[in-house]
Amino acid sequence: MKKHIVVLAIIALLFSMFQVPAVAAKPQSDTIHSGSPFDNKIIKRFDSKRAMQHISYLSEDIGPRVTGTDQEKEAARYIQQQMERYGYDVSTQEFDIANRMQGQLVTSMDDNELAIRIATGSSSTTEEGVSGAIYHAGLGEPGDFSEEVVGNIALIQRGGLSFWEKVEHATEAGAAGVIIYDNADGLVPPTPSLGDNTASIPVVAITQADGEALLEEIEGSEVTATIKISEITNQKSQNVIAVKKPKGKPSDNHDIVYVTAHYDSVPYAPGANDNASGTSVVLELARIMKGYPTDKEVRFVFFGAEEIGLVGSRYYVSQLSDNELARSTANFNLDMVGTNWEEATAMFVNVVDGAPNLVWQSANDAAERLGNDSLILFERGASDHVAFYEAGIDAANFIRREPETAALEPWYHTPFDTIDKISQDRIQEAGELIGSAIYDFVRKETPRGKKGQGVNKRVGNYLLNEEPVRNR
Ligand code: BES
Ligand code: ZN
Repeated sequence: MKKHIVVLAIIALLFSMFQVPAVAAKPQSDTIHSGSPFDNKIIKRFDSKRAMQHISYLSEDIGPRVTGTDQEKEAARYIQQQMERYGYDVSTQEFDIANRMQGQLVTSMDDNELAIRIATGSSSTTEEGVSGAIYHAGLGEPGDFSEEVVGNIALIQRGGLSFWEKVEHATEAGAAGVIIYDNADGLVPPTPSLGDNTASIPVVAITQADGEALLEEIEGSEVTATIKISEITNQKSQNVIAVKKPKGKPSDNHDIVYVTAHYDSVPYAPGANDNASGTSVVLELARIMKGYPTDKEVRFVFFGAEEIGLVGSRYYVSQLSDNELARSTANFNLDMVGTNWEEATAMFVNVVDGAPNLVWQSANDAAERLGNDSLILFERGASDHVAFYEAGIDAANFIRREPETAALEPWYHTPFDTIDKISQDRIQEAGELIGSAIYDFVRKETPRGKKGQGVNKRVGNYLLNEEPVRNR
């Protein structure tokens, strides 16, 4: 009897284990997607933790990576080392950059160096700079200056007169330098233009907040300022390049796909999102894809000197041979893919002419497979995909923005573009989506000469031919 009970219990247990539940599991709806087995090779291995470590190194350990500086070079070295660790042969490509003005404003108030912009048309200074007491000169009307300003630094509020008029009045009154402070709240100083004029004294601008802090301070005691401005010449920047050859193909007869990101930043900005984020995702995709055979040649290219006008990417494309250009089918450019700004719920696919092309198609197909409905095709340049587009290559830039307005996060190009404003989840999402699109694209042959065709299916919204809202 006991034996029977045991057998029955075992049968009951087995039955309960394999039983179809009385309430059937929710049927798979159209909204549940999973990638192809190829997508999953990317998705399973893309590790946003590693990407965050790259962002931390670039934006925190190095910090601002201004074109031509040692910090930009250090970032290039870091990228090269990472790529070599993944097993790539890496080359760097050096190029000249235009001379630029560099400046510094230090005040005696806590020995504080303030963030400045140098006016276009400002004079430069000697190495020691010009120093003097800060003299408040209102809006810079002629009547705002007294004898006291002679040999000192005029602090002038923006507004009313043109920048040049203010500078002219200050110069006539005998000021040794001019600091213009903004008349509106902003995270970065304005860049004053003196038109076609050239000043005989240094002219810099600071934010409203910094200007008001100085004003408060000079009420009580004298504050001195030193302005140094010099022209930096003979500077160089560099691109970092790693090539992944296709499996078993003659080396000069296959398509080339470029996966790119710029690693430089604007002054004072740690550039966590612009663009350590894109750099980190490209590094991580390069790591993953190293061992995967592809039908196309994949070139991972990290550009310097983007922020001074796409100089690195333009140089890179200018050095491609006709043969390489003819084989170039696509550029996936990643620039600002990780902001945690809540409003930036869409991944924009910026295309220079706004027309769907192979990169958009590939991203859109991947989005559909992965059930990601955040893609928006948008007409926009302003990043390194422009250089490829101008050479006739299908190119797009991936960038997170607010869907309705196309706005970027408010701290774009400011000192507040820091790693605490990066969403690791969004880095993961970018890696999975863009990585799946790239891998799908490079592992298959695509007929040559069919650039940008058959690309009208859509997941996201089109926002063609609209000027984006600039938040600056
Ligand atoms: N990361 C931005 C990309 C970007 C794209 C910003 C589209 C805004 C809109 C890039 O680094 C950048 O700042 N671009 C410059 C222009 C470039 C030619 C120097 C810009 O938009 O001011
Ligand atoms: Zn930028």
